[in-house]
Amino acid sequence: MPIQLQLVAAAVFLAFFSGLGAAEVVHYPPTSSNINNLTFALNGSGAPGIYSSSKTPDKQYGQYNWCNMPHVRTREYKTPPPDYNLEYVEVIQRHHKRTPYASNTFFKESVCWSCAGQGPLYGIKSNRGIGAVVTDIQWQAFQDAQNPWTTKVGPGFVGSTCQFPQITDQGLEDSITHGQDLRAVYAQRLNLNPYFNPATSRIRVTNNVITSQVASGLVKGLFPASAGIEAIIQSSSFDSLEPTYSCNKASQLKSSITTGSQVWNDHLAAAAGLYAKLDAISGISPSDTAGWHTSFDHYYDNLSAKQCHGKALPCNLNSTSSCVTQDIADTVYRLGNWEYSWQWRDAPQSAQYAALKYGAWVLELKNKLQNKVSGQSKGTHDLTPVLQLKYVHNIAHDGSISPLLGFLQISKMVWPGMGSEVVFELYSKASGAYGSDKRSYFIRVLWSGQPIQTSTPLGTIDLVPVDKFFSYIDSTVGSSSALFNACNAQ
Ligand SMILES: *[C@@H]1O[C@H](CO)[C@@H](O)[C@H](O)[C@H]1NC(C)=O
Ligand SMILES: *[C@@H]1O[C@H](CO)[C@@H](O)[C@H](O)[C@H]1NC(C)=O
Ligand SMILES: *[C@@H]1O[C@H](CO)[C@@H](O)[C@H](O)[C@H]1NC(C)=O
Ligand SMILES: *[C@@H]1O[C@H](CO)[C@@H](O)[C@H](O)[C@H]1NC(C)=O
Repeated sequence: MPIQLQLVAAAVFLAFFSGLGAAEVVHYPPTSSNINNLTFALNGSGAPGIYSSSKTPDKQYGQYNWCNMPHVRTREYKTPPPDYNLEYVEVIQRHHKRTPYASNTFFKESVCWSCAGQGPLYGIKSNRGIGAVVTDIQWQAFQDAQNPWTTKVGPGFVGSTCQFPQITDQGLEDSITHGQDLRAVYAQRLNLNPYFNPATSRIRVTNNVITSQVASGLVKGLFPASAGIEAIIQSSSFDSLEPTYSCNKASQLKSSITTGSQVWNDHLAAAAGLYAKLDAISGISPSDTAGWHTSFDHYYDNLSAKQCHGKALPCNLNSTSSCVTQDIADTVYRLGNWEYSWQWRDAPQSAQYAALKYGAWVLELKNKLQNKVSGQSKGTHDLTPVLQLKYVHNIAHDGSISPLLGFLQISKMVWPGMGSEVVFELYSKASGAYGSDKRSYFIRVLWSGQPIQTSTPLGTIDLVPVDKFFSYIDSTVGSSSALFNACNAQ
């Protein structure tokens, strides 16, 4: 196409696009740090945080811990001035520690993951009749050698008593502690009962069972008087939390940021030496097509899951003297964080990508905040009147927290570790003349337990007028129909 024609086409396209009310997302680049410095990721040293235990010493609490990220706790919590009244809290967190995913396991993984006596709960329960009194059913993985496929499907499963993935005993303990810590901060401030009340609180999970496994522990800590509660869930064909709704434009942007971008392919090429060492130990083929060589995700998951559970780094099956060293593992951890920063913050298209990828969840959040502010309850398909809601808790994934941080344009991106948490707190404050009941509303967003620093004009989101936050959403995600159209635009 001649250049002039191209320009006309582009102008027509833009006019059409803005005619739909789609948001034009401004990208505010993150600050420079070792995380988004590729030279440091490749040639630097040390791990970008704690990778060996869920425990962070109190004095260091707040620093990155991949095994158990910092969250809101009484010890570090900053209470706003007394004229600010807490009206509503919405928490979103990543699930806690787990075994690796089956796709990320290499040789004989099963040998070092034992889940004997521990397994996910399944079953069904009714609120009515005899169906209300049922038995919890716990799954226990087992194998029987009479089934000849047992040893044929892949070494990762031989002798396994786990589901891959499955929240581990330690991950379950971390989930309980997480719930207890949140309860200690919010129960009194929001007047939450020791038992779960679906009129004022909601627990939301994704279609991936590990989020419900975390809920088992979290609810024990948050609402200790409850036994058996209802968690809400959207269909996997449009779930906004995981998220799983289809967004063609987001998928295109993702490719243009990762496998279709020079920067991405260059970082993989620059890491060829590291890949050669890892492949030699794991036995993964250098020409593998299962994702071991398109990012460091699989190696990162595989190594960090072991280290977080106090297990040794893996060795070659044929030669126990050839093992992954701590230096190699640390380099994988630095590169993994570099990849998340590039994908969700540094790449110029990352803000638009994140807004499309997580826009639906953001719009649901905005509607709840708006209803609290206006004192009205909109949304005909809601299970409970939004007006009464005080506390909503979402249990999700790194694939949920990352686009949310990308949408908020956090100033220093990291790969959200286990239990990573973002909290939205809505406050009100008297704003009319003395004796009037006029109130103004403010939002505080906490990341890792502290007000989040963004690169946007919102700066640190610490008691920002909520209308400014709404304007930011309007300028990035736009309306519901604008989001839908933008996702389906060619
Ligand atoms: C890392 O160090 C190696 C060897 O010193 C060097 O060849 C390479 O250019 C360095 N990579 C970067 C990205 O600085
Ligand atoms: C990136 O890291 C390298 C190695 O530590 C350092 O020499 C360089 O100054 C850093 N670059 C920036 C922009 O900070
Ligand atoms: C880790 O990698 C090893 C070797 O490639 C594999 O057998 C194992 O299943 C992986 N484990 C996890 C949890 O991904
Ligand atoms: C172990 O040795 C066998 C035979 O040489 C080879 O086929 C296999 O790939 C090796 N496994 C690993 C993990 O290196």
